Amino acid sequence: MSQTILITGATGNISSGIIDQLKDSQHRLLALVRNPSKAKALESAGVELRVGDLEKPWTLGAAFEGADTAWILTPPGPRAPEQASNALWAARSAGVKRVVRMSAIGAAHDAPTINSRLHALSDAELIGSGIPYTIVKPHFFMQNLLMAAASIAQQGVMYLPLADSRMGLIDSRDISEFAARVLSEAGHEGKIYTLTGPASVTMHQVAAAIGDATGKPVRYEPVPLEAAWQSMVQAGIDEWTVNLTCDYFAAYSTNWGDLVTSDFQSVVGHAPRSIAEFAKDFAGAFGKQ
Ligand SMILES: NC(=O)c1ccc[n+]([C@@H]2O[C@H](COP(=O)([O-])OP(=O)(O)OC[C@H]3O[C@@H](n4cnc5c(N)ncnc54)[C@H](OP(=O)(O)O)[C@@H]3O)[C@@H](O)[C@H]2O)c1
Repeated sequence: MSQTILITGATGNISSGIIDQLKDSQHRLLALVRNPSKAKALESAGVELRVGDLEKPWTLGAAFEGADTAWILTPPGPRAPEQASNALWAARSAGVKRVVRMSAIGAAHDAPTINSRLHALSDAELIGSGIPYTIVKPHFFMQNLLMAAASIAQQGVMYLPLADSRMGLIDSRDISEFAARVLSEAGHEGKIYTLTGPASVTMHQVAAAIGDATGKPVRYEPVPLEAAWQSMVQAGIDEWTVNLTCDYFAAYSTNWGDLVTSDFQSVVGHAPRSIAEFAKDFAGAFGKQ
């Protein structure tokens, strides 16, 4: 049955991938954007733009009007619970029948990272809202590895503060595909899905996969957290994001992310992309000539 789906975060990584998946479907898509001049591509793909800001709740009422289902994604930041709460209130006021929420791996009140604890607040608010919901909790995006692309391309070395831990990291394109499925079909109400890639791998295995894809040897060199913190600060990254990233590095170094689930395969019907597939698709960014 055709439905009207409102997509928040529409110009970002995950939500733009959802729109790509659904733009030629029977469903009517509404995209929440702050700045329509940044969303010309969405308009030309036939998506109806709704202008609103998650930090300005008075802009959201009209934006959510007419939606049956809402995808709520907030950017990582200290105001994420406020943004999610504003979106949920707008969804409730507009009579939205189901909310699908982008959370994160391990989101819990006792999780070791601030981002996970903030996501847990919004997950709890949605679960307690009485609105039918689905929550998607993805692992670390493989695309985050692009932060090491310059040193891999220039020196053949991937410097990260992840010790010798294992992680079930996932390609962000798979998260978009998964979310598009869950948004557009019935049967996911009340479900909480943890999305991982097909294997829990060490950074040495990741480096080897990138080396195979680029045709040049790549090695992983673990660095202290302090060094990573310093290089992010020097690169001009804001303090909140640096601290959040260091929280994750510290947690993952103790194998907090050493897990694999079958949630993606059970819903979508095929395996998520492996690190080798990711490395092949992004080989150019990692220095393949
Ligand atoms: N990176 C990871 O490994 C990882 C893993 C698991 C979960 N997550 C979660 O994934 C989420 C981020 O997803 P993403 O990478 O797709 O995000 P993203 O690419 O940073 O996109 C964020 C989107 O939010 C929009 N936005 C920002 N502030 C807004 C506001 N005040 N009102 C309305 N829209 C606003 C941005 O629009 P503009 O174009 O206007 O800026 C953009 O479309 C976070 O919740 C994070 O915790 C990340």
